[in-house]
Amino acid sequence: MNNNNQETWLATPDPRLFVSNTAKFNELMMKYRCTVREVQTKLEVLNDEFSVEYQRNPISFIKTRIKSPESIYKKLQKLGYDFTAENILNHLNDVAGIRVVCAFIDDIYTVADLLAGQDDIKVLQVKDYIKNPKPNGYRSYHMIVEIPIFFSEGKTPMRAEVQIRTNGMDFWATLEHQLRYKKGLEEMDGYEDISEELTKCAIELIEMDNEMQGIKNKIGRFYNI
Ligand code: GTP
Ligand code: MG
Repeated sequence: MNNNNQETWLATPDPRLFVSNTAKFNELMMKYRCTVREVQTKLEVLNDEFSVEYQRNPISFIKTRIKSPESIYKKLQKLGYDFTAENILNHLNDVAGIRVVCAFIDDIYTVADLLAGQDDIKVLQVKDYIKNPKPNGYRSYHMIVEIPIFFSEGKTPMRAEVQIRTNGMDFWATLEHQLRYKKGLEEMDGYEDISEELTKCAIELIEMDNEMQGIKNKIGRFYNI
């Protein structure tokens, strides 16, 4: 314990404060995990119902994540807030994240409308990067939702970010995200070309998504899918 490499936070002036803050943080993260579960269950219920009604699943898969303590800290710092439970709850919308990957573009809007229509869900914000893609080619439908979660002391309104996209959009965004977080990539020779190539891929994937949607529409006239 006496080595000099000891992290400074182990030597905070008042260890009791550190312990009580950690307990508060852990409690809040538990609440976000419950929020993710609640929203995920709602989506799974819709998907199950769809598969019985129409013999197909609009949702291919769902990925969830809770923002890491480091990312929470960085985001609060960027916004100019201290790292406290109150600030996390009041100022961050994306601690609970749910990514829904759908087969077709129209499934995205079906899923979004069905979720938004549930009377315990309040939609606080929508960003439609499908109708308005980002200049780099990023597409997805983003919703910030608020949902009451029932705990022993009563209900707490909790917020979550729901990103809904097709397999093609997810394929692109996952690679682009991985590349963007490679340190020093921007200084690499040929970075501009890579960037351009990625945007070109995004455009090809848009065309592919639209073609797949067109095929589904033609088949749908016969089979009601
Ligand atoms: P953040 O501070 O990143 O949360 O952005 P924001 O609050 O302005 O919200 P926005 O809806 O633009 O983006 C939220 C999330 O969408 C990001 O955290 C990413 O997960 C995803 N996203 C947005 N833009 C891009 C992009 O260009 N590429 C990829 N791969 N993901 C993106
Ligand atoms: Mg974010």
